[in-house]
Amino acid sequence: MEKPADADYPILDVIKRRWSPRAFGDRPVEPHKMRCLLEAARWAASSYNEQPWRFMVVRKSEEAAFEKALSCLVEANQAWARDAAVLLLTATKTTFAKNDKPNHVHQHDLGLAMANLSLQATAMGLFVHQMAGIDRDKVRAAYQVPDGYEPQTAAAIGYPGDPGSLSEDWMRDAEQAPRTRHPMPQFVFGETWEQPAPVLDA
Ligand SMILES: Cc1cc2nc3c(=O)[nH]c(=O)nc-3n(C[C@H](O)[C@H](O)[C@H](O)COP(=O)(O)O)c2cc1C
Repeated sequence: MEKPADADYPILDVIKRRWSPRAFGDRPVEPHKMRCLLEAARWAASSYNEQPWRFMVVRKSEEAAFEKALSCLVEANQAWARDAAVLLLTATKTTFAKNDKPNHVHQHDLGLAMANLSLQATAMGLFVHQMAGIDRDKVRAAYQVPDGYEPQTAAAIGYPGDPGSLSEDWMRDAEQAPRTRHPMPQFVFGETWEQPAPVLDA
């Protein structure tokens, strides 16, 4: 299913076509494609090139590992993410390796890596649905995440499936719903907070 962004200005095709489905098909993700997604994440920019992201990746065929990852999601996410071919859990290193000082942008840089990964996925016919709805204490315990690192998010990855296969009405509705965004003046300011930026004027 396609849900291209109704963009006001021309944007890259992969940005337009990326969206977050909950219906995933049975088709496994080819390991080399998974490696391409992770390679795209690897080449994200990061503050001081710290690369604070860490990923735990499991495929559905790795049954016990997949169940463990799934069990770290909140129930509402488990309901649909169990059909994804791949589950990814993310964590970040919260300090800089070179001096142990706090890295105030570790989550920001994970976001950049996930954006790269998601767009690479789109270019390869794959879809990524990221999740904040996880049990972080459970991730820490299940994966023995050491001190100095924080569990952050999860993502379901796979080829698209049939929206009709989703178990709940709200999921089927959300799958068909148009994608929306705030208009730019709501978040692009000029000289002061909430002052329209002149660059947005025609
Ligand atoms: C960091 C992050 C956390 C999210 N958490 C969840 C989640 O726990 N469950 C869920 O169903 N969707 C989650 N989403 C998906 C968003 O709801 C979705 O990206 C947003 O509605 C925009 O839709 P689009 O990605 O299709 O453009 C999350 C997305 C991001 C980036």
